Amino acid sequence: MSTYANEFRRSIDQPEAFWAEQARRIPWFTPPSTILEYDEANHARWFVDGEMNISHAALDHHVEQGRGDQPAILWDSPVTDSKRTLTYREMRDQVASFAGALKGLGVEKGDRVVIYMPMVPEALVAMYACARLGAVHSVVFGGFAPHELAVRIEDAAPKVVVAASCGVEVNKVLPYKPIIDAAIEQSAHKPDACVVFQREQHLAELGPRDHDWATLLDAATPADCVPVKGSDPLYVLYTSGTTGKPKGVVRDTGGYAVALAYSMDAIYDVEPGEVFFSASDVGWVVGHSYIVYAPLLRGCTSVVYEGKPVKTPDAGAFWRLISEYRVKSFFTAPTAFRAIKKEDPDGKLLAEYDISCLKALFLAGERLDPPTFHWLDDLLDVPVIDHWWQTETGWPIAANLHGLEPMPTKAGSATVPVPGFNVQILDREGEQVGPMEQGSVVIKQPMPPGCLVGVWGDPQRFHAAYMAAFPGYYLTGDGGYFDEDGYLFIMGRTDDVINVAGHRLSTGEMEEVVGAHPAVAECAVIGIHDALKGQLPVGLVIPKDGFEGREADLEQELVALVREKIGPIACLKQVLVVDRLPKTRSGKILRKLLRNIADGKEYGVPSTIDDPASLQDVHDAMKAREVGAAHEARQV
Ligand code: COA
Ligand code: AMP
Repeated sequence: MSTYANEFRRSIDQPEAFWAEQARRIPWFTPPSTILEYDEANHARWFVDGEMNISHAALDHHVEQGRGDQPAILWDSPVTDSKRTLTYREMRDQVASFAGALKGLGVEKGDRVVIYMPMVPEALVAMYACARLGAVHSVVFGGFAPHELAVRIEDAAPKVVVAASCGVEVNKVLPYKPIIDAAIEQSAHKPDACVVFQREQHLAELGPRDHDWATLLDAATPADCVPVKGSDPLYVLYTSGTTGKPKGVVRDTGGYAVALAYSMDAIYDVEPGEVFFSASDVGWVVGHSYIVYAPLLRGCTSVVYEGKPVKTPDAGAFWRLISEYRVKSFFTAPTAFRAIKKEDPDGKLLAEYDISCLKALFLAGERLDPPTFHWLDDLLDVPVIDHWWQTETGWPIAANLHGLEPMPTKAGSATVPVPGFNVQILDREGEQVGPMEQGSVVIKQPMPPGCLVGVWGDPQRFHAAYMAAFPGYYLTGDGGYFDEDGYLFIMGRTDDVINVAGHRLSTGEMEEVVGAHPAVAECAVIGIHDALKGQLPVGLVIPKDGFEGREADLEQELVALVREKIGPIACLKQVLVVDRLPKTRSGKILRKLLRNIADGKEYGVPSTIDDPASLQDVHDAMKAREVGAAHEARQV
């Protein structure tokens, strides 16, 4: 048996023995004696009686082991023309002081703290400071609008909000304070305090509830690490589901730390002292796992990048960072490379940098499309690895296990299930299907350590969203298949979640916003193929009877409304007014059909359709307005 096959089998056949071994990778205050336990709903709980603190494991422990002077963070911000290095010792001291500051504001173990910050070192300091106190952080991505932030504040009910005064995007400064004030205004829950890290690009005006980060830090008494149980929550991270209300994915502490430590070895193949660069954002799961926690748990140096793949200043930005910081392992989303390829199709800028330090490139967030894979594979001398995961799992479900046993790559495949993940493909009836047959991709219980342990404040939703469809299995929401060699191909979501530039969004949520406009009778928002961003949302609306305004004005209002309510990253740029929408006789909008038309695919008329002429209407409207590749769609 190959090394991979052997390790995978062991992880599935003897999960307790396998993960007990992996648990030794991290420093515990009290090592767990119970490895795996099931809760009353029969969901796996790992390391419940172990005691640890991730801030200790990732910072204090390394300082104690002699890594105090090694850079923990290399911050590089072309948008503000700044760079900064924080050693492990500096990081530990800042975290301890900020934890002391939070404690002074009344934050205790189990309290929630919402963090709304861009890619600055202080975002990581704030996250680790919460962890140090055993408080639960919930980081909200800066591209979300006040309404989205309000929904999260209301759900998480934080004692404190920690924010920066502004974010900086390409050529624009975005003040955050008005967004936070508006969100707190909209939320029924009001935090006691808001701590603002002032950036020189824009100073926020502070009100009665607000505290200045620097002043608090100066006055703070450093706080020690509070021991927490392996199963205690470390964070809540909201992600899009199929309804308008985002799901607060709850992550435990011990299982997560063990899984991340294992992945840094088996998947990413990085050793303590080496440099890891993940070009994501702390607001996403990739940022939580592979900018903030995993690199430091492993004793690596993490590059924290406040910039874009292109335009800051050019499409050579990633090559520059890899070369300058001697990055060994680099991780980003395929969309970033599609943007680079667009600006520098022959990869000429690469020649300006020595990237001989790079040993592997990892991509996730969406499927690595074969053209982008081949472009990268031709350009680089290192393995180009597509790996598949989700906010819920916290770490990769399928990958080429570069550190354990590298395998030949197949374009379009995320390679094989990672040890611990018993991935299966089921048909509608819940029967396992054979190779090359598509179905629902599920994970047989128990899920390995590191995966979500619940939906914040809503155990029922956890069960309904993930566990109810196929008892005994976790529903990933993705469709796909295994080939004859056991390679896994993930082909896209089976629900209303879409992926726009590696950002996960819900069309259902956009429909709620569009449908709430007083002039809209009915609407559908669908995700259509986009060459750069992977997918883009497009809205189709039927105005209410008696609507007398200009259609173009309504369309623009709806675009603006989604931007205002969800945020600029929703990227809803096209809304079309139509007379009819294709529906089944029971009134269900035929969204898949709409997607096929927009993507220029052949489409048939389903026997269940209520009004076949509605299809032609929509087709004509999309064609006239040049939506996607609708001009190529053909009815068969
Ligand atoms: N805060 C505030 N606004 C933000 C933001 C943030 N953190 N991130 C993006 N936005 C805004 C942008 O300014 C833009 O606003 P605009 O409509 O006013 O121009 C909008 O959201 C869309 O941004 P973006 O998706 O970044 O599109 P783009 O066309 O500017 O850039 C890419 C395209 C491909 C370069 C960019 O999407 C990218 O870097 N993608 C990689 C994403 C990624 O790493 N995801 C991680 C998942 S692993
Ligand atoms: P998120 O929770 O934002 O990480 O998004 C998770 C979703 O992104 C998954 O359910 C997939 O639909 C998609 N995804 C992420 N990585 C990949 C990948 N490597 N291949 C295919 N789809 C992916």
